[in-house]
Amino acid sequence: MNIILLGPPGAGKGTQASKLVADRGMVQLSTGDMLRAAVKAGTPTGQQAKAVMESGGLVSDEIVSALIGEKLDALDTATGVIFDGYPRTAAQATALDELLVSRGRTLDYVIELEVDEAALIERVTGRYTCANCGEGYHDRFKQPKVAGVCDVCGSTEFKRRPDDNAETVHTRMAEYRAKTAPILPIYEARGLVRPIDGMADIDHVSAAIDGILDG
Ligand code: AP5
Ligand code: MG
Repeated sequence: MNIILLGPPGAGKGTQASKLVADRGMVQLSTGDMLRAAVKAGTPTGQQAKAVMESGGLVSDEIVSALIGEKLDALDTATGVIFDGYPRTAAQATALDELLVSRGRTLDYVIELEVDEAALIERVTGRYTCANCGEGYHDRFKQPKVAGVCDVCGSTEFKRRPDDNAETVHTRMAEYRAKTAPILPIYEARGLVRPIDGMADIDHVSAAIDGILDG
């Protein structure tokens, strides 16, 4: 099974992808995570991407499609993939079609997380992750069971993304509206889009996704 999780910043793509990885053994391919790793490692790709990401703009189609192609090459065709934050433009949607066909994969669903953008600002600006294992948390919506201690690995170090400030989030939302939302009709025409209520709580969103994948 190969699926796309589509939605604006803070819609819950990463949160739901992690659950699918844990529950179903699928692999999450997040271009945002790949780019952040490249920035951290100081690779040429990371050096090109850093300022663009901090501004909330989109990194070039060529760079992100190349990253996805490399990851797909390292996977068995039988392993299900969750595309998180990719594709984000019409050119990336076309590139993904080619990447999938050439590797004998087909796209099963595009799960559209329908959300209220105004509420997402709080989700994004309240988000943080464990600095050791990457588990995601939120100041209000998902606190560690023991304050200051990661539920998963016990680390007491946490970090926030440099692009998770209110100003950059507005730019990221505008990019989503202008360049990403317009790719939905491509997939609607193929009957692949499954809209779900992304404003429900995390477990209800997961249940809705399970209903689609198991239906
Ligand atoms: P990327 O990392 O993809 O960021 P994004 O799309 O802005 O999405 P986020 O990761 O912010 O949100 P999410 O939907 O994963 O939400 P999450 O689950 O964390 O991209 C970053 C940058 O990289 C881009 O701006 C761009 O520069 C570049 N880039 C990446 N891919 C690219 C591409 N393909 N092309 C070009 N450039 C690219 O949830 C958010 C918070 O809310 C969490 O704290 C979570 O706990 C909480 N939460 C989640 N679900 C719920 C819920 N149902 N109820 C309450 N709280 C919830
Ligand atoms: Mg994410």
